[in-house]
Amino acid sequence: MKIGIGCDHSACGHKDAILEHLKEQGYDVTDFGTQEGVRVDYPAIAKTVAEKVADKTLDFGILICGTGIGMSMAANKVKGIRCAMLSDTYSARMTRDHNDANMMSLGARVIGIELAKDVVDTFLKTECPHTPRHEVRIKMIADMEK
Ligand code: RB5
Repeated sequence: MKIGIGCDHSACGHKDAILEHLKEQGYDVTDFGTQEGVRVDYPAIAKTVAEKVADKTLDFGILICGTGIGMSMAANKVKGIRCAMLSDTYSARMTRDHNDANMMSLGARVIGIELAKDVVDTFLKTECPHTPRHEVRIKMIADMEK
C-alpha cells in the first residue's frame, strides 16, 4: 500500500510522528513535506498529494494542517478525490465504509498525536466493502465533477 503524507508548518510534529508510526508498521510512505521551520501554503501541499492519489501513484493520502479544514477543502478540488476531515476513529471507519474516502485530513491543533495515530490506523485498516447503496451515492459525488 503506497501512502503519501503532507503537512503545513503548523503540523510538522504530527506529520513526523505519523510518518514514523506508519513506517514501523511496514507501510510504504512518502513524505511530501513540509519540514520543521519551513512555512508553506497548505493548498500547495494538498494539491501535490491529491494529484498523486488521483492518478493512482498513491493508494491513500494523509494531510495535516492546523485544523485539517483547509487541507480537506483543497484536496477535494482535485477530481477523483474524496478527502475526509477526521478527528475520531468512528468517522475514520465510516468514511472508508460508506464514502470510500481515498484521503483524510487531520488538525494538529485539534487532536493530539496519539489519537491522530489511532485515527490514521483505523482509516488505513478499514476496507471499503463497496456496498451497492453507497456506490450509487459515491457515483453521485463523482458526477458532480463533470
Ligand atoms: C495555518 O495557520 C492554518 O491556517 C492552516 O494550518 C490550516 O488550519 C488551514 O485550514
